[in-house]
Amino acid sequence: MPGRDLHAQPFTEETLAKLRIFENYTQEWIPTFVMSGYERICIFDFFAGTGYDKVGVSGSPIRILEQIEKNSSILFEKNTKVSVYFNEFAIEKYESLLQACESYIEKSLALTTLKSAGKLNILYYNRDFAELFQELLPIIKSEASLVFLDQNGIKFIGDDFFIPLTYTQKTDFLYFIASSYANRFKETDEFKKYLDFKPTPDEYGSCNNIHNELVEYLKQRIPPLSGVKLYPFSIKKGRNIYGIVFGSSHPRGVEKFLRTAWKENPENGEANFDIHNDELGTIDLFEGRKLSKIELFQSKFEKEVLNGRIRNNQQAFDFTLDKGHIPQHATDVMKRLKKENMVSYPGISPKISYDFCHKKNSIEIVEYRLIK
Ligand SMILES: C[S@@+](CC[C@H](N)C(=O)[O-])C[C@H]1O[C@@H](n2cnc3c(N)ncnc32)[C@H](O)[C@@H]1O
Repeated sequence: MPGRDLHAQPFTEETLAKLRIFENYTQEWIPTFVMSGYERICIFDFFAGTGYDKVGVSGSPIRILEQIEKNSSILFEKNTKVSVYFNEFAIEKYESLLQACESYIEKSLALTTLKSAGKLNILYYNRDFAELFQELLPIIKSEASLVFLDQNGIKFIGDDFFIPLTYTQKTDFLYFIASSYANRFKETDEFKKYLDFKPTPDEYGSCNNIHNELVEYLKQRIPPLSGVKLYPFSIKKGRNIYGIVFGSSHPRGVEKFLRTAWKENPENGEANFDIHNDELGTIDLFEGRKLSKIELFQSKFEKEVLNGRIRNNQQAFDFTLDKGHIPQHATDVMKRLKKENMVSYPGISPKISYDFCHKKNSIEIVEYRLIK
């Protein structure tokens, strides 16, 4: 399947949106794993590109290095080693990648110090992802790993690559997919070889939802024993829809990805455009307007609490993440319900956070009581 050469021109706004999500997630991921006491953390960028675009804007590998640099003091403090695996198949791009990264490291005191102390190890590969992935899979599985799969098209989302990732336990992964290709190529034998997915355009023939549909299809493929959860972020460019699929088997990773996604778009946390075309909410009787995505969630969440189905902070946290929202959206509701004397709980905070709800040694379950 054809793919546009991303590095032949300056990155577009849509590419930058993708890179911001990659970078902001890395920024959250590194300190979390370092502070959790892992001796070694691993970052894989299997489709690394050239390092920079045509006009010197950083691509994924340089952004990864920047985040390691920012975290150098905690890496020293906690004595954590970082291994970074950069791969690029096209030979000229691989050479640019190597040169760009090495010259970035050379100019950074923090990175050169980490490197000479044996705490930063960078490995460069000029290989076909399909092969290299199988080779590095044992490391991905055994170490705390963050995996970027910034492919050009769609084919590497096939079972050979996706399913092994769903069996990991300390691995978070971010796939980039040209989801519209599924519509364009669905009848071709090559496509059918990788995916058995048939998108359904909406009544207007639009495929705005195609990335979400594809993620729903992938969810069906997750083996029953896997704890991996998937979350989408759609990116529209012209009439095409691309997107990121985030996967993690840990609620801490999911919470951090959702924070990153809601930071990228505070209106809906799931796309760089109005994906629901304003058709989301029911009309609010009092205000006579459609509810926003956050208001709609908050109204559902409030009903769950008032019906007694959400009775503590852990249930509130799990419900919120399951619906693709961040804890703040639920916290606002709980605080209002308390102020309106409908619910009581001890203290001033409803304590809806990963640390209070799931983190070993810091769990604090807060019961919510309905006031009749
Ligand atoms: C979407 S770009 C990645 C962009 C990069 N993340 C950045 O920020 O610049 C995809 C890259 O994958 C490379 N590529 C294509 N097929 C590949 C394969 N089979 N294995 C590894 N890399 C491949 C392309 O040359 C291209 O540079």
